[in-house]
Amino acid sequence: MSDSNTPASKVLDRVLVLEMVRVTEAAAIAASKLIGRGDEKAADHAAVEAMRKAFDELYMDGTVVIGEGERDEAPMLFIGEKVGGAPGRGPKIDIALDPLEGTTITAKAGPNSLAVLAAAEEGGLLNAPDVYMDKLAVGPGYPEGIIDLDKSPTENVRAVAAAKGVKPEEIIVCVLDRPRHEELIAELRSIGCGVVLIGDGDVAGVIATTDEDTTIDMYMGSGGAPEGVLAAAALRCVGGQFNGRLLFRNDDERARARKWGIEDLNKVYKLEDLAKGDCIFAATGVTSGSLLQGVKRLKGGRMTTESVVMRASSGTVRWIKGEHRI
Ligand code: FBP
Repeated sequence: MSDSNTPASKVLDRVLVLEMVRVTEAAAIAASKLIGRGDEKAADHAAVEAMRKAFDELYMDGTVVIGEGERDEAPMLFIGEKVGGAPGRGPKIDIALDPLEGTTITAKAGPNSLAVLAAAEEGGLLNAPDVYMDKLAVGPGYPEGIIDLDKSPTENVRAVAAAKGVKPEEIIVCVLDRPRHEELIAELRSIGCGVVLIGDGDVAGVIATTDEDTTIDMYMGSGGAPEGVLAAAALRCVGGQFNGRLLFRNDDERARARKWGIEDLNKVYKLEDLAKGDCIFAATGVTSGSLLQGVKRLKGGRMTTESVVMRASSGTVRWIKGEHRI
């Protein structure tokens, strides 16, 4: 049996990487009952409750470092909450989670909503405050440093195009469809790029850069900082590059960041700054999308799920199809 003295390198082995999928499966199945029902809060609540319960089955002494909010605003899976079935005994694991990434997507039965989590050895994940983050990502296979958040979108596209051996107009960029991105979208289109606009779900948007089948080369624009950490954990496992900078709208948000120990508010975070050491990323599809098929309810009380679990130290990516009986 594991104990809290387990060497850091073994910590993630001991909690059984595959067990993490049970947790995202449970959240996805619970949320799937609310797909297309127009009730974002109910869908989120169902996923949170199921994920919280599923963690109890894991032999670990887990701490939520990215969760549903701070203790006073979230009843479950709040930042700092202890999760896992072996508090004080099991290996110490930090968890970043989003039981339902894409609440609006789920309520509207749109594509790409996920139940998602990342796990790392204690201290391995950035305690990101719930503020926006400017994000720039590219898939694997490019020279290190090819993207740079301090450069313009045009310069970044040109650099990636040159390395890929294509013209800038052949580069496809995924962007969240928001009024705040109007200028970015206009700039990208002015140089001839294809812009894939997504309604929500930038974790899947960033991960899409790692899969040639999506045809998406780059991800750009601002979204949630917690989602940035989750996406970075996935890229640590499958390759790719990421730059992220926290964006603050007011002093309250700056104070939140300082509270979590962030001193340099302008820092550009790269993958290792967001998810360092060994880490795991697990996701189960709620609705179908570019990464995963969603939960399907079949005749006779059967359900199918599709999940992925990845590990940074080995680079192993496992695709798991589950069949469940209610
Ligand atoms: P929720 O699941 O919390 O609704 O988040 C969905 C999402 O699209 C994230 O993927 C993204 O990071 C964030 O919202 C963008 O925030 P906003 O909707 O304020 O632009």
